[in-house]
Amino acid sequence: MGQVICFANNKGGVGKTTTAVAIGQAWARGGKKILFVDLDSQANLTTMVSPLAPEDHKATIRDAFLDRSKFNIENVAKNVDLVPSELSLSNFDRDTASITGREYLLVDLLKPVRQLYDYIIIDCPPALGLITYNALIASDHLVMVATPDGLAYSGMVMVANLYADVRSNERLNPNIKLSGVVITKYERNKLSDMYVQKVKTELPDAFVEPAISKATRVAQAGSFNQSIFEYDPHGKATKQYLEVAKRLQKRVKA
Ligand SMILES: Nc1ncnc2c1ncn2[C@@H]1O[C@H](COP(=O)(O)OP(=O)(O)O)[C@@H](O)[C@H]1O
Ligand SMILES: [Mg+2]
Repeated sequence: MGQVICFANNKGGVGKTTTAVAIGQAWARGGKKILFVDLDSQANLTTMVSPLAPEDHKATIRDAFLDRSKFNIENVAKNVDLVPSELSLSNFDRDTASITGREYLLVDLLKPVRQLYDYIIIDCPPALGLITYNALIASDHLVMVATPDGLAYSGMVMVANLYADVRSNERLNPNIKLSGVVITKYERNKLSDMYVQKVKTELPDAFVEPAISKATRVAQAGSFNQSIFEYDPHGKATKQYLEVAKRLQKRVKA
């Protein structure tokens, strides 16, 4: 049965999407079958992994939430499939207002496809609304991603609180585990080191070594829609992501 893993932080720009993509691509290169589910209306993950223009997707996760028969999975690379997102997913709360059990829409969508994949990777929006709630309820594992600074740390604490709520409620998802905290855009300085230390001390079991260095080539790969493994195979951050992928894989094994 495929393991469902969501990547979250209440703050944007902390490397959630970049990390979700890098980890998924690393596992796919290792022969695992991956499904990416883009839950962010900004559709950054969709743009990063799909060769299609935004308007060319047959249907997106938003369509599937409103009509299950429109659940559309695209093959985007060897071992990599995608459920794309689109801008109008930002109306999710309003669009689904009349649906009962709207917290469980994602669980229900993923149920029939779980056995087709080794890992289903969910990229969350930078918010703690109904979409992230759906993601936490549908996931076996939560991975929090943060840059080493105060705002990203606070965003992580907010996700951790929502996670605790979901986990403590028998009807939501008591089995979800906090399986990783990945620090990104690390630069060696007092502030960064202080936050890395803080995370290590407070979440010693979840912190995944090493922190990912801030690297222009990571951002470049993202904006050229290329995998860092192709764009910068020998880069420091690429090697760090490979190491994080290896360690995280041990923790999320079924
Ligand atoms: N290690 C890194 N070094 C430099 N830039 C990075 C790194 N990781 C991500 N970025 C860039 O930072 C920006 C935000 O990253 P992204 O993954 O989209 O964050 P989020 O999904 O949390 O909003 C993007 O432009 C991305 O290319
Ligand atoms: Mg993102």
